[in-house]
Amino acid sequence: MRLPFFRRESRAPRAASRTPAGVNLKPRRMGFTLAAGYTRDWAHGDPVKTSFLNAVSCILPMGEDFFLQAMRAVREQIRDPQLAKDARAFCGQEGHHAFEHRKFNALLAASGYPRLADIDRVQDRINDWILRHTGAIDHVAFTAGAEHMTSIMSHAFLSDPLRWVDARSEIGAMLFWHTVEEIEHKSVCIDVLQHLDDSYARRMAGFALLTGILAGSVLVRQAYMLAADGHLSRPSTWLQLARFYLGRHADGRPGVLPLLFADYLQYLRPDFHPWEEDDRYLVAKWVQAFDAGRPMLDIDLRDYLGDARPAAQAA
Ligand SMILES: [Fe+2]
Ligand SMILES: [Fe+2]
Repeated sequence: MRLPFFRRESRAPRAASRTPAGVNLKPRRMGFTLAAGYTRDWAHGDPVKTSFLNAVSCILPMGEDFFLQAMRAVREQIRDPQLAKDARAFCGQEGHHAFEHRKFNALLAASGYPRLADIDRVQDRINDWILRHTGAIDHVAFTAGAEHMTSIMSHAFLSDPLRWVDARSEIGAMLFWHTVEEIEHKSVCIDVLQHLDDSYARRMAGFALLTGILAGSVLVRQAYMLAADGHLSRPSTWLQLARFYLGRHADGRPGVLPLLFADYLQYLRPDFHPWEEDDRYLVAKWVQAFDAGRPMLDIDLRDYLGDARPAAQAA
């Protein structure tokens, strides 16, 4: 059985690669050793912030495995050589992300969250159901929606990284590397999707499905970790959660939904493309430092912050 939204066959190829010049997509092997920097509430001693970032990390490897399957299944159909090259680099980057986050997630599970594996098993079944009941291009539509979410979250992170992590932190270094690469490859999946099929309904259906699964996956894991640490029974935790998501968090910054909502909605526009937001300035300094061989491990993130938005882009 196939879901009704996804019955349409793909049309002739259209879009080519729209990754801008100067963005050199390539997989980077990092080899983080995360245990030394790990403490229970490693994100500023804040259980709500830490459990949110932990929950996001938990779902990344499974999501990235799905994205790899989706892209590999259609790569023979890509007729634009640059886009085919982008898709290979995308798979390489996501493969390394999954590898590093699995190490971090194993650390989490071993530190007192044994039921995370049970939640993962349920998620695996959901992913398998999606793979069995939808087609190859639908999987790319789902992945393109996920890449929009990771790119807007990465933009928010790189715009204010010290809100989330300490300046000298290997976990922070891992998130910095990951978010830089999410910005670099943010248009690859939507370019592949629109190269294979121009259906707006399919793109929106994939995004709707992704939104529901992403929200549920993060909230279930966050609630479990807060409960395991004895925080969830306290009314103050619920108040902090409400402020963290909806209003203004204890750190004085906007909650997650106010922070992301306008960027989230952009994806609903039929003519949307991720590089309308040219945020190469956020990644340039990190990439330059990496290419120059500067050490990424045990670093002060202040050395790697993005340059200020160029005047031409700010206009
Ligand atoms: Fe990733
Ligand atoms: Fe990605």
